[in-house]
Amino acid sequence: MTTLEAENADFSFVHFTDTHIMVGERAQGSKLVSQMDTAKALEHVIQAINTLDPKPAFAVLGGDLVSPDLLDQSKVWTADDYEPSYRLLKQVLTPLTCPAYMLLGNHDHREAFHRVMQTDASRPECAHYYSFDHQGHHFIALDSLVPGEPGGSIDAVQLEWLRADLARHADRATVVFVHHHLWPIGVRWMDGMRLKNADELEALLRSHPQLQWVICGHVHQDQHIERDGLTQLTSAATSFQISKVSQTPKLFTGPPSFRLVHVKGDSLSTRVIHLHHNQPDEF
Ligand SMILES: [Fe+2]
Repeated sequence: MTTLEAENADFSFVHFTDTHIMVGERAQGSKLVSQMDTAKALEHVIQAINTLDPKPAFAVLGGDLVSPDLLDQSKVWTADDYEPSYRLLKQVLTPLTCPAYMLLGNHDHREAFHRVMQTDASRPECAHYYSFDHQGHHFIALDSLVPGEPGGSIDAVQLEWLRADLARHADRATVVFVHHHLWPIGVRWMDGMRLKNADELEALLRSHPQLQWVICGHVHQDQHIERDGLTQLTSAATSFQISKVSQTPKLFTGPPSFRLVHVKGDSLSTRVIHLHHNQPDEF
């Protein structure tokens, strides 16, 4: 069942993910990281998004917003160490002409995020999950970050909140955003770092037929898997991409990418846009 408002919906939004902004001292010998300019890549994506016609109603940032920890993996990075990366992210996002909703990923740091983004978190370590509506459609942002772990999980308190939120919006077509992927994408080393309690989350999502799409980040590649009416989309990253072929970690410095979704009535269509890497200002 959909509301009249949802039947008349006509808008688009963008999902851009794994922005991996990094400010800090670079470790010796990290060749790939030293080749990356993730802030510049994000600037190019934002320039492209700002030229979209029609303009997107909002943007969702799919997690791994920042990752100074990649600069030196032998060190424990504190909230203070993370803050400059979030400040740079905030600065790079300034030209974005639509509202931005943010998710956290495994490289993020909750305390530094809450401080810099001035959220209304009641405690520094609060998980960052919430929902919002647009033109009769309902959108849910989950927080799958487990500090210190590359894989993700949705804790019991958040699952209860989700259960109640879905029940309250049972008449609304719903899309869920979560950083970690639920279902294997076929790249084994990445699939070892997916959502640990994916089965539990999937069972809850499936008990609400108004929910047909889950949009994830984390895997740095675009994929589309549909199972019995539920679709998992993963988006390519703005920062760097991961091979869809290699079963061992193989990363590429580009091209910067994002997902565009168009909502018309109660149907959604989507495509992933990869910027031309050698001409980043040409859209
Ligand atoms: Fe990532």
